[in-house]
Amino acid sequence: MILGSILFASLALGAPTASPISIVPRPTSIEFGTGAFQVDSKTSIVAAPKARGTAKYLQSVLRPATGFDFEIKTKGAGGIQLVLDPKLTTLGEEGYLLVSNPKGVLISASTQTGLFYGVQTLRQLLPTEIFRASNQTTKWAVPAVTIEDSPRFGWRGAHLDVGRYFMPKEFVLKYIDLLAVHKMNMFHWHLTEDQGWRIEIKKYPRLTEVGAWRKDSMLTYSPETYSGKPHGGFYTQEDVREIVAYAAERHITVMPEIEMPGHAQAAIAAYPELGNTGKQLEVYTKWGVSNDVFNTEPKTIQFLQDVLTEVMELFPSKFIHIGGDECPKSQWKTSKSAQAKIKELGLKDEHELQSWFISQMDKFLTSKGRRLMGWSEILEGGLAPGATLMVWLGDDGALAASGSGHDVVMAQNAHTYYDHYQTDKRDTEPWAIGGNLPLEKAYAYEPILPQMSAEQAKHVLGVQSQCWTEYMPDEKRVEYMVFPRACAMSEIGWTQRDLRDYPDFSKRMDTHLQRLTNLDVNYRGRGNSYPYPLKYIK
Ligand code: ACM
Repeated sequence: MILGSILFASLALGAPTASPISIVPRPTSIEFGTGAFQVDSKTSIVAAPKARGTAKYLQSVLRPATGFDFEIKTKGAGGIQLVLDPKLTTLGEEGYLLVSNPKGVLISASTQTGLFYGVQTLRQLLPTEIFRASNQTTKWAVPAVTIEDSPRFGWRGAHLDVGRYFMPKEFVLKYIDLLAVHKMNMFHWHLTEDQGWRIEIKKYPRLTEVGAWRKDSMLTYSPETYSGKPHGGFYTQEDVREIVAYAAERHITVMPEIEMPGHAQAAIAAYPELGNTGKQLEVYTKWGVSNDVFNTEPKTIQFLQDVLTEVMELFPSKFIHIGGDECPKSQWKTSKSAQAKIKELGLKDEHELQSWFISQMDKFLTSKGRRLMGWSEILEGGLAPGATLMVWLGDDGALAASGSGHDVVMAQNAHTYYDHYQTDKRDTEPWAIGGNLPLEKAYAYEPILPQMSAEQAKHVLGVQSQCWTEYMPDEKRVEYMVFPRACAMSEIGWTQRDLRDYPDFSKRMDTHLQRLTNLDVNYRGRGNSYPYPLKYIK
């Protein structure tokens, strides 16, 4: 309340609208002072040894555009001070206080994570050229402000499907950097699909030798057109370690997703014994959902648990996502072994068989101290006891799961699927999967449903954006679809509900888009957004 009134007091003075300060996501409170701190070649970063990690990061993001050294000292007055202050717990584990005046900048927080977010705000207080990769002759000034800030939700995520199109490691690192700029803290890495298995598993090398490569890719669904070109790629375990460590330095958790029992054709192409027909399949070349799903035999359960064992060694994430969405039941209906399993376990139908399948993974992950995450469909046939639901299909699932004490992450397709078009004027857009999710609609998403009780609302961990890449064959297209909508998502996850305001966001975005330009992001609305041959456009 106090923070809110500071903000409104300063609003009443008329400061923010005319001010050059445009921070995304919007902080809890900004109080404007007078003057500015001039950053120059003598400016140092002062940080106690415990805050050195954040100091090094700050140095690395300030150096390229300024060309200044930003020497890191452990003591001294002035400059940019990073202070870990255990007493600042009122701002929560991720909150920070930033005070700047003509003498210097002080960022304080009770954790390194809070300091890191203060650093992200400091970057946005500097001229937008600070986001450029090479020396600029800009005058670097930080306006005098007092900012108190902390996030609304603990889960502020972005998903990326690398199954439909493999995205190079360097791009994954760039994506993580962009999440960090927006104070997002969860990278949901969708690593396996019908159309490609993208993570090296040492025990089962054919998953990537065979499963990471397909001979063709669909370009448009109706009419059905194809590229005529092979596509593939995968991340070695060394790549994965590098990406996870890079994210951790940016206070981002990488949650892996290993799809089961559906979206499994690439794995079955590698190991036909995992399927229901025994047929040698190819890695799927078309979009949509393959009918070839994992069988329910003990060897397959063991195989998947072996995979998860290697995955858990690579990813410290508490949550491990096992997919669980869109699993056609046609093969289980006619499979002798699936039907025998249903009988043996006394199950009602194939939905309960899927629920049993997921519960095998739930028990396994729980026994290793992890938690299972799955898409909406894991509710069908009964939610496994330890499961957390990622809600993409309808509000009923969110209400049911949160009502029975399960945590949920809100990811409704109508508001958070950034594979949807960004306008209803499709003729000038690159081909997309469908839907229409303009920026304003994306911004309007509210993760706490009006029907939720206070108890249910506590089970909403947060919110995230989805990027399914069927029609995004390269990094530029991903950037085009994800930005600027991910900026809206960052504000949904971070900013307090009563401070979310689309006209205000739009105004700040004018400046923020300059930052994205300087970061070389091909966001929609940027001058040259279509570096594609015409056939990719329509
Ligand atoms: C999904 O979009 N199939 C989770």
